[in-house]
Order: sequence, then C-alpha cells, then structure tokens
Amino acid sequence: MKLLFIGDVVGRPGRSMVQEYLPKLKQKYKPTVTVINGENAAAGKGITEKIYKGFLEQGAQAVTLGNHTWDNKEIFEFIDSASSMIRPANYPESNPGNGYLLLKVNDLEIGIVNLIGRTFMQPNDCPFKKADEIVEKIRKRTPYIFVDFHAETTSEKQAMGWFLDGRVTAVTGTHTHVQTADNRILPEGTGYISDAGMTGPMDGILGMEKEDIIHKFLTNLPVRFEVAGGREQLNGVLFHIDDKTSRTKKVERIQISEDNPYYE
Ligand SMILES: [Fe+2]
Repeated sequence: MKLLFIGDVVGRPGRSMVQEYLPKLKQKYKPTVTVINGENAAAGKGITEKIYKGFLEQGAQAVTLGNHTWDNKEIFEFIDSASSMIRPANYPESNPGNGYLLLKVNDLEIGIVNLIGRTFMQPNDCPFKKADEIVEKIRKRTPYIFVDFHAETTSEKQAMGWFLDGRVTAVTGTHTHVQTADNRILPEGTGYISDAGMTGPMDGILGMEKEDIIHKFLTNLPVRFEVAGGREQLNGVLFHIDDKTSRTKKVERIQISEDNPYYE
C-alpha cells in the first residue's frame, strides 16, 4: 500500500498546483490512499465546500485540517455532511465534525487521524491522550493508521512520532509549511517526518506575501496577510507501506517547483 500526503494547500496557487500535479502524481506513484491537508486552502484560512469537493474529485480520499479549521464560516454549514473531512480530534468534544475517519481501500481499512499540537498554539485537549484513545479504538479494526499532527514545534511533533511508534503506520507533521529532511522509519516501523511542507506560493513567507510579514516584524502593528503571488510549489510525502505488517518501508519526500521540476 502507498499513502500519498499533500502538505498544507495554501490559497489559489496551492489549489492550482494540486489540480495540475495530483493526477500526475497519482499516475506515477499509484497511491492506494491520498490525503490532503486543506486548512489553508481558502485564501490561506480555512476551506469551503467547493474546494473540499474539488479535492475529492481530483483524487483525494480524505482532507485534514488544523488551526484554521473554523476560519471560513461556511464550514459550519457543510462539515457534518463532509464525511471525508477530518478536523483535529483533540478539539472540544462539542465541536462539529470528526477527528478521525476509517477508509475502506480494496480489502483493507485505514484509519486517518488529525490532531493539533499545544505548544505555541491555542489550548486544546491533550493530543497525546487523545491519540492513545483513538489509536486504541481504531486498532480493534485495523493496524493501518495514518496521523496528521498539525503542530508548531518540531519537539512536539517528534514526541508524537515516538509516542506512536509501532502503534500507527505513519505520522506526518503539518502546519509549519517548510518541508523537513528528517523523513525516516522509527525502530518499531512507524514512518515519520516532522513536516510535509506546503503546497502554494514559493516566494512568500509560509505562503503569504512577504512584504506584509516583514512589515509586521518591523512595526508589530496589525497587518492583514494576503496569499502571495509568483512561483508555485507542491510539497508532500509518499509512505510506502508493507501490506503484511502495516509498517512503513520507505518515506519519500515529494517536492515540485521550478528548482525541483516534475518528471514522469
Ligand atoms: Fe496551520
């Protein structure tokens, strides 16, 4: 089994990269499951129903979210009917939506989990305790489990990787929008990377116009951030999974940009 994960899709530039390259990546790698983090897909903040459905039409089977989950108000109108959308599981229990999803693929089942970190982020329930609870539940049905841990610090993400090593198939970090080069397989077979990176503008700062961010650093005044223009990139990770053991065999980083052109 192969699981393709596309890192945080930012605004229109990110969506156009998905539209252009997801079919090509699917053709090239033939992933069994494709997951997209779409929490920045609508102008950098949140997601709309049209965008969510577009991702599914383009070949994703699940869409994960993060700290911008509720930023586009439209989400409250469609999240309950969006069965392939997953918001952080450690949000308050009363929140709408689901924190994990069980996907049937061929004759296998895979659990997709979304969690959010707490270090330098809004306070939420403990992601580690929530991971324990959900992983235990899913493992009664299937050992194939993929976790998108949306967190700010590398240490919290590494801690989650080690915490779940041997209990889930793979853990990928998201949110920091810069792909890390620490893709590896942990000793008990869990594939891990601290951050899958970002799909969207290449010449901004984390996908937003650099001038706005620099102005913010210089003045500390409130600034409205806009999605950057210019060159575009796609970042993602391909997890090669052993069909007998549910362990990850290889964690492959994917980068498409002017510096790393796509090849067939
Ligand atoms: Fe985020």
